[in-house]
Amino acid sequence: MIPPHKVDEILGAARIDEVIGEFVNLKRSGSNLKGLSPWSDEKTPSFMVSPAKGIFKDFSSGKGGNVVTFIMEHEHFTYPEALRWLAKRYNIEVEEEKPTPEQEEARNERESLYVINDFARNWFTQQMWETEEGQNIGLSYFKERGFKESAIQKFQLGYNPDDYQAFTNTAKSSGYKDEYLLATALVKEKNGRFYDGYKGRVIFPIHNLSGRVIGFGGRTLKADKNIPKYINSPENLVYDKSSSLYGLYFAKQSIAKEDNCFLVEGYTDVISFHQKSIENTVASSGTALTKEQIKLISRYSQNITLVYDGDKAGVKASLRGIDLILEQGMNVKVILLPDDHDPDSFSKEHDRIEIKEYLSKNAQDFIAFKAALLMQDAQGDPIKTNEVVHAMVNSIALIPDSILRSIYVNECSRLMSISESALISELNKSLRKNHKQSFRGNNRRDEDFAEAPIIKTDFNEQKKFDEDTIEHQERDILRIMINYHDRMFSLEDPLEDEEAEEINILEFMLDEIEGDDLRFETTAYKQLFDEISRVYDETEKFDQNFFIHHDLETIRSLFVDLMTFPYNLDNWERMEIMVVSEDQKLRRAVIESIYAYKSKRVERMIRENQLAMKDSSALGADPTPYLETQIKLETIKREINKTLGRTVLH
Ligand code: UTP
Ligand code: MN
Repeated sequence: MIPPHKVDEILGAARIDEVIGEFVNLKRSGSNLKGLSPWSDEKTPSFMVSPAKGIFKDFSSGKGGNVVTFIMEHEHFTYPEALRWLAKRYNIEVEEEKPTPEQEEARNERESLYVINDFARNWFTQQMWETEEGQNIGLSYFKERGFKESAIQKFQLGYNPDDYQAFTNTAKSSGYKDEYLLATALVKEKNGRFYDGYKGRVIFPIHNLSGRVIGFGGRTLKADKNIPKYINSPENLVYDKSSSLYGLYFAKQSIAKEDNCFLVEGYTDVISFHQKSIENTVASSGTALTKEQIKLISRYSQNITLVYDGDKAGVKASLRGIDLILEQGMNVKVILLPDDHDPDSFSKEHDRIEIKEYLSKNAQDFIAFKAALLMQDAQGDPIKTNEVVHAMVNSIALIPDSILRSIYVNECSRLMSISESALISELNKSLRKNHKQSFRGNNRRDEDFAEAPIIKTDFNEQKKFDEDTIEHQERDILRIMINYHDRMFSLEDPLEDEEAEEINILEFMLDEIEGDDLRFETTAYKQLFDEISRVYDETEKFDQNFFIHHDLETIRSLFVDLMTFPYNLDNWERMEIMVVSEDQKLRRAVIESIYAYKSKRVERMIRENQLAMKDSSALGADPTPYLETQIKLETIKREINKTLGRTVLH
């Protein structure tokens, strides 16, 4: 860990124009600097750096942030990696915090395991290229499989001789400790006798993101069914299966460049695709896809394409893993290969152009793919069909973006011949369930404003009317919160009431929105609002830098957007005859943004309540609860409009 005072020192020293200037040719433009976006092939500069604010904004890709996030985005670094890079650039020595004895020991063990893995990889490749047995058995096996020498070298493939103690003896005589050798399982022990774990196998080293070897896969060359085909390293301090992906080290640049990642089954598939120059390919060998693995990929691209054997057996088993990808807000496509081919065998029979063409022509959207696959299984049986509808709706409900959700609803409705409104009502149920789960244990007041459906049932008709303005209003509220967070204002007009109490704007806005249990509807805005609120509750502070450095790219770039285009108080000038002070303008902006928003939301709840009342009366239900809600909502609306009118319209 880098100690906090060092982080401050690095941030203090790093000049954003200097650092970015190393990667992008910047020209002065007013108080800002402009250049060509490093993330697209643009001709006119849309990349902007503001040295005064310490931020950059790339209008072509939407990315934005500060000097650290620029390095993270540009070099695909983690936050500490970016800090270290900057420290080096500015000659700041980063002495890590003094580790505890346990940390020291773990670090020693980790280092030892890395060193052993490195030693082993080296020895296995040497055995394969430089011994007769290695060449005749190991190397010729790979060549028969169609691997080219360049690929064999790039992936550092090797061979463990067919001898009980070939590796064991070498490793022991080189001084490696039994304890660490056993932790890699390259050496095993039985009754005090040590022997090779990978005897007579060809070796596939597994690399971490910085290219160090963390484990091995070893494939037998025997056809004997009783021997496991592959032996894979056990987990240890350097190898965590759920957060590593085979091939990612070699694929990461290409994933970012192609903005897509092909996910295949195993070692041989990755290597075969790579040697056909489809380098944006990785495998989650042996395990079901995990959240950590998906997060790793999302550092480089938001698009994953799963490539499956033609027989579809593997597909069903992995449906759950695919839902995990959707949950991360990423896009998933599926490609089925023809005639029971796997990527390895398929690429042997086709050239690079044919493969690329097949991949691009046959990529199906996952939602459509899943619907078709399950519908085919249901074969028109109504009970099974009903289950399929639920499975689909549950998948769609995981997608964070509401517009994307409605597109999928539309598509599924077509694919499954089910009315869109039936799907939407199922989807709303599922969304509410997820919503309740994520708020469980949270003492929010859930009375007056509860249960506003996230997608409206009469989606198409009201879309225009509501969404334009609500999204706008949410944006304005956030802009004011961010740009005037430390300013005070008073709800009563100080010109009329001298004792009007002053309150902090940020606190007022948080209280007004959360006190009424209103949640923002626009996904990105809600995410930022909730995070501001969470941090403010925890620290009673608002620190712009925290958000400019935020772990989540969506929060970072939205925040910078809102900082770049602050709320323009002069909008009010149009409506004013008299020139008013900035304080007055700000006060009106705060009140208008909050109360106009509330008013809009209540109006919609009233409409929804009326619709629900109509539906239920058609079913002969008791309308009393709806009438009560109606009265309550009308009262709230009057109150809101009173405040609004008093401030803004008089
Ligand atoms: P395959 O069974 O196709 O392996 O599994 P292969 O080496 O390509 O064998 P052949 O030549 O087609 O018969 C594909 C991938 O699944 C993983 C490996 O990563 C392999 O590359 N796998 C397979 C294992 O991890 N363990 C196993 O026991 C089998
Ligand atoms: Mn195979």
